[in-house]
Amino acid sequence: MRRSYARLRGGRWDRPRREGHMTAVKHVGIVGAGQMGRGIAEVCARAGLSVTLCDTTEARARAGLAGVADSLLRAEKKGTLTCEERAHALAGITVAADLSRLAGADLVVEAAVEDERAKTELFRRLDEVVAQPDAVLASNTSSIPIARLAAATRRPQSVLGLHFFNPVPVMPLVEVIPSLHTSRATELRVRAFAGEALGKRTIVAQDRAGFVVNSLLVPYLLAAARMVASGTATAEDIDTGMTAGCAHPMGPLRLADLIGLDTVTAIGDALYEEYKEPLYAPPPLLRRMVESGLLGRKSGRGFFNYAA
Ligand code: 3HC
Repeated sequence: MRRSYARLRGGRWDRPRREGHMTAVKHVGIVGAGQMGRGIAEVCARAGLSVTLCDTTEARARAGLAGVADSLLRAEKKGTLTCEERAHALAGITVAADLSRLAGADLVVEAAVEDERAKTELFRRLDEVVAQPDAVLASNTSSIPIARLAAATRRPQSVLGLHFFNPVPVMPLVEVIPSLHTSRATELRVRAFAGEALGKRTIVAQDRAGFVVNSLLVPYLLAAARMVASGTATAEDIDTGMTAGCAHPMGPLRLADLIGLDTVTAIGDALYEEYKEPLYAPPPLLRRMVESGLLGRKSGRGFFNYAA
């Protein structure tokens, strides 16, 4: 057995088997119409899938759909999408304010607020309403252990993490996170969905807070926030240091603003809870900014001002 392919499953090592019959995902339910949910809805609709975009109110779900419509229009103006393709993608998305509308989904991607209690409750409800016995329940969580979400359901073999990156239509990566209970069939089905249907690059990570990318990225973002707090340099100069000095497309503080300072803080807290390493602890300045409503781009101000 090639060790690199080996994975611990419920106490035993197994090797990837050739897939048997795997039903393709056709209907995707998305829970949460915020920036990640609407991005996931867009890439699914552009892949020709039927999408139900669900939030707590119809107004929120409609705001998500309006965001997708804007983004599709920009893509058409840039020439990466024809008018017919845009119309077809948009027609493929239905909005909903009730989770029971996801009953017929083959795959549900939960992209709600990064709060363990809220997500656990959502998984309990999804388990009740999603009717297909082999439907996959996935979470776009960036840091909450998948095993805890799976434990809220009676189908832990069908639960896994499916972590997209912001902006979803642009970033090619998706992390796939099986828990110790996720079946091989579920993992393969989701990898085929993300890799073949959506055209994303997939990497598989173990069920540890932060998975691969956030375990590396978040300490870096928190270190930049600590530099602002200690006055090492201005926010502008810290960002220029990494764009002009290391060719990053964006400096750490603009990136934290893009992700959302509330989300960065929540991920830092989850990583700290898991590993108890000081590098994961959000600094007081970041907490004060979140408590003051300075959440980054989505609120108009974070380390930088976006009001204009
Ligand atoms: N939706 C769709 N397309 C978008 C977009 C959006 N929200 N934002 C930018 N784009 C497209 C633009 O249309 C443009 O497309 P084109 O090249 O075909 O014309 C392309 O992306 C580049 O955009 P811009 O020219 O406007 O601006 P930039 O060159 O500055 O790129 C960026 C913007 C793509 C956001 C780039 O700065 C970048 O890659 N930044 C880093 C993003 C990153 O690291 N994301 C990961 C965050 S971590 C995460 O999400 C995990 C979570 O758990 C925290």
